[in-house]
Amino acid sequence: DFSWKLADHPKLPKGKTVAVVVLDGWGEANPDQYNCIHVAETPTMDSLKKGAPEKWRLVRAHGTAVGLPTEDDMGNSEVGHNALGAGRIFAQGAKLVDLALASGKIFEGEGFKYVKECFDKGTLHLIGLLSDGGVHSRLDQLQLLLKGCSENGAKRIRVHILTDGRDVLDGSSVGFVETLENDLAKLREKGIDAQIASGGGRMYVTMDRYENDWGVVKRGWDAQVLGEAPHKFRSAVEAVKKLREEPKANDQYLPPFVIVDESGNAVGPVVDGDAVVTLNFRADRMVMIAKALEYADFDKFDRVRFPKIRYAGMLQYDGELKLPSHYLVSPPEIDRTSGEYLVHNGIRTFACSETVKFGHVTFFWNGNRSGYFNPSMEEYVEIPSDSGITFNVQPKMKALEIAEKARDAILSGKFDQVRVNLPNGDMVGHTGDIEATVVACKAADEAVKIILDAIEQVGGIYVVTADHGNAEDMVKRNKTGQPQLDKAGKIQILTSHTLQPVPVAIGGPGLASGVRFRNDVPDGGLANVAATVMNLHGFEAPTDYKPTLVEISSLL
Ligand code: 3PG
Ligand code: CO
Repeated sequence: DFSWKLADHPKLPKGKTVAVVVLDGWGEANPDQYNCIHVAETPTMDSLKKGAPEKWRLVRAHGTAVGLPTEDDMGNSEVGHNALGAGRIFAQGAKLVDLALASGKIFEGEGFKYVKECFDKGTLHLIGLLSDGGVHSRLDQLQLLLKGCSENGAKRIRVHILTDGRDVLDGSSVGFVETLENDLAKLREKGIDAQIASGGGRMYVTMDRYENDWGVVKRGWDAQVLGEAPHKFRSAVEAVKKLREEPKANDQYLPPFVIVDESGNAVGPVVDGDAVVTLNFRADRMVMIAKALEYADFDKFDRVRFPKIRYAGMLQYDGELKLPSHYLVSPPEIDRTSGEYLVHNGIRTFACSETVKFGHVTFFWNGNRSGYFNPSMEEYVEIPSDSGITFNVQPKMKALEIAEKARDAILSGKFDQVRVNLPNGDMVGHTGDIEATVVACKAADEAVKIILDAIEQVGGIYVVTADHGNAEDMVKRNKTGQPQLDKAGKIQILTSHTLQPVPVAIGGPGLASGVRFRNDVPDGGLANVAATVMNLHGFEAPTDYKPTLVEISSLL
């Protein structure tokens, strides 16, 4: 007797245009010189903050509040947008893989059995991000996977590494590669032919997303599958150390390299009969390589060779496309998202961001589902991102264009919900360029103003929030909160996300009088936003959603 029909809210009206604005990477932290949001001129966000506690509050955006294994796990856009859109907390990929490894179930599942068929005659290739960032992958999971594969019959293993520096400190790649080399040496002692075969920086090799730049995936394909790259080394530690010596080199953007034997031949191209596992659990930056590995029909770049392999993802990355068809761990089943409910209840929805964050307000928002629920009710607009640049060069990104599209959508009267992601704080924050991040925050703030002005004009409602922290803290800190200095006495720039809470602000002329934040959900998190938004559209949220953050003052 399941029904998509939402009950009418007893007090709140329908028919208001609701703007949902997600500032990516916009957390709340102490004001100091490394808090780019504080340093930047952000009059719009500042004025929203003055509405506290009734119209502005903080919510949790990291750790268990978004389905991550521990409170030491910083937030990220995948789990953040999943929570915002789904209104409930789901155990996320990081946690599901942990559980499957701990119980050993991962090695009994269909996906593992499928790739295992190749272990006798072929090579097992593991491709993925090498760090302990916990956003896309984790080193300890790779270690357990290597152990389990070798115990389950893998005789020849090749690891294709992608260096991080984005979810972890720049420069940490060397240590991770050393650790992995050590583990592989131990496997070799046990008679398993295990080596690193290729590598490259995650932002330059393989891990593009939302089809921003297929060249990134091609560079990876050439190194991993074809065994071809501009740089050749005898060892991965040497590769990473040498490539980092180039001026301006950093872990995120290391060029592709292959490891060669004494005669100069690549040690691990992928050939017929091999097995491949992409070890990242997070979807967005695996979808493109998964297509290249899985689809016989493929025209995004010339693969030169398309080896007959057995391929499995750590997870299934796209539930709608069923991509890849084989996977080691079942993804979280994020069903009945607020987007799907609202469309079933007549809410015409517009969503927009630029390419690098487009899937965040669509795919992640909708529970890792690509496409529309009902194309006649929804319009998703993607503004092409500048590609081939690091965003500190263009810190304003497409914030203005996104805001203008949102404004037009609001003013058109054709939509009930207008949802955007403003990428600046996050994408520029990840570059570690503090000055540029300040410019980025200002640009995002200006974009918010454009959207709020449009809401003002149509008598609508706004909900302004963020998916996780980033730009509000750009330095690695010690336990007392002071910048932590490295051996040379220098501060260490924090390119990653943070553990900080994020703001939620509500307002606009359409907000019924007396609507305010309740004070009995002090530990509210991103998942509480969905019910809040449903209320502002005039509906009660489903009973299993996390409680709404708003109440209607009883004095009225
Ligand atoms: C990335 O993929 O760019 C980072 O690892 C995480 O950033 P996001 O969660 O903000 O997308
Ligand atoms: Co980010």
